[in-house]
Amino acid sequence: MKVAVIGQGYVGLTISVFAGEFFEVIGFDNNPSLVAQLNEGFSHIEGVESDQLRKLIKQGNYSATNSGYDISEVELVIIAVPTPLSKDRQPDLKYIDAACRTIGENVKNSVLVINESTSFPGTLRNYIKPAIEKYSNFPTEHLYAISPERVDPGRGDYNQKNTPRLYAGLTAEASQRTKEFYSRFCDELVEVSSPEVAEAAKLFENTFRQVNIALVNEFAQIANALGISVYETLDAANTKPYGFMKFTPSAGVGGHCIPVDPTYLAAVAEEHGAPATFIRRANDVNLEMSKYVVDRVQVDNGGSLQGKSVLVVGVAYKPNVADVRETAAELVIEHLRNRGAVVSWHDEVVGTWNGESSAPLSGADIAIVVTKHDSVDEKAIVASAPYVFDTTGKIKGVKGL
Ligand SMILES: NC(=O)c1ccc[n+]([C@@H]2O[C@H](COP(=O)([O-])OP(=O)(O)OC[C@H]3O[C@@H](n4cnc5c(N)ncnc54)[C@H](O)[C@@H]3O)[C@@H](O)[C@H]2O)c1
Repeated sequence: MKVAVIGQGYVGLTISVFAGEFFEVIGFDNNPSLVAQLNEGFSHIEGVESDQLRKLIKQGNYSATNSGYDISEVELVIIAVPTPLSKDRQPDLKYIDAACRTIGENVKNSVLVINESTSFPGTLRNYIKPAIEKYSNFPTEHLYAISPERVDPGRGDYNQKNTPRLYAGLTAEASQRTKEFYSRFCDELVEVSSPEVAEAAKLFENTFRQVNIALVNEFAQIANALGISVYETLDAANTKPYGFMKFTPSAGVGGHCIPVDPTYLAAVAEEHGAPATFIRRANDVNLEMSKYVVDRVQVDNGGSLQGKSVLVVGVAYKPNVADVRETAAELVIEHLRNRGAVVSWHDEVVGTWNGESSAPLSGADIAIVVTKHDSVDEKAIVASAPYVFDTTGKIKGVKGL
């Protein structure tokens, strides 16, 4: 079977290599330089090895393209494109719309279309299906299903194979064909009664994380005000064998999912007249953590950061990945610069970012650890500045949350 995967980023490339073991996969991406890089066998995603990609290319089971013509004969299409927020922080489906146009204008046969992009309940039924039908150049009737992606890039223990996968079709036939497809490379499939349940479950999973992170971030501030260790308190609470799940504080949340997906849920809730106060507040608490961190650093350093050289250690949104989307480091740096600090950052996993390059891990007045990659030596962080503030809980013997 020929499968097209629209979007070759974290989700699309990951699913492409798993599916490529069983099917002929055509990775469609509208970024021509990425397409060229993938066809040369170089992966840009943690967790997808270039060797694996080269093997699939050699077997004829993977190729990348930015030409719609190349997907005209496929039998199954997966959508894996970004679903960001607009400038006014509303769900922005422009990439989904463009993917629907690519499918409608090019796919000749009646196929199964599966959406893996994260979006609000009703997206498959009320948006994707009508959009593809509107753009279609052919007398086709496609089947439609949703199977939200749960991949956590850089994670070793859970992957496409052993992470249970939710799915639901708009029709029983769509559900059945979706099950047949994923069961080739996924151990556990969980069918739900409607696409809306699957879409909502994905948003709720990430909202659960966002709210719990906000709670622990607020608690870090309470613990500091009370003069007790947040980490010791959390470890103590975590000795309860049931009814508690440990989250740890941070300078904020980053990545494409947790800062974004809950806002999709809040937007659809409010559109339907339901409250989303908790979700909105959690988002604010997490966004405000960067200011709290910089306030603490400022107080510890004589009340002013004017002219001080500050090194932000780790700008990726989480350890061991190069992904800087929505990273908390960006807000930390913004607050520091607004207060007159001379800011550089160290992150050799990221390398270059916003036109700047990773600075040496030494010689600053102040170091603030936002993300601790495994490859960065703890002792080198401690030695990088006379004052170090750790937001990760991983550096011993320094100030921190
Ligand atoms: N990254 C994750 O960990 C993760 C996990 C679960 C779900 N998701 C969801 O999956 C979706 C994709 O996220 P991602 O992290 O893979 O994004 P990404 O930014 O890594 O990749 C998206 C890719 O799509 C391409 N693209 C954009 N518009 C296109 C179009 N019209 N046609 C073809 N290609 C197009 C981009 O060039 C890019 O390569 C989002 O809805 C996201 O919320 C992401």
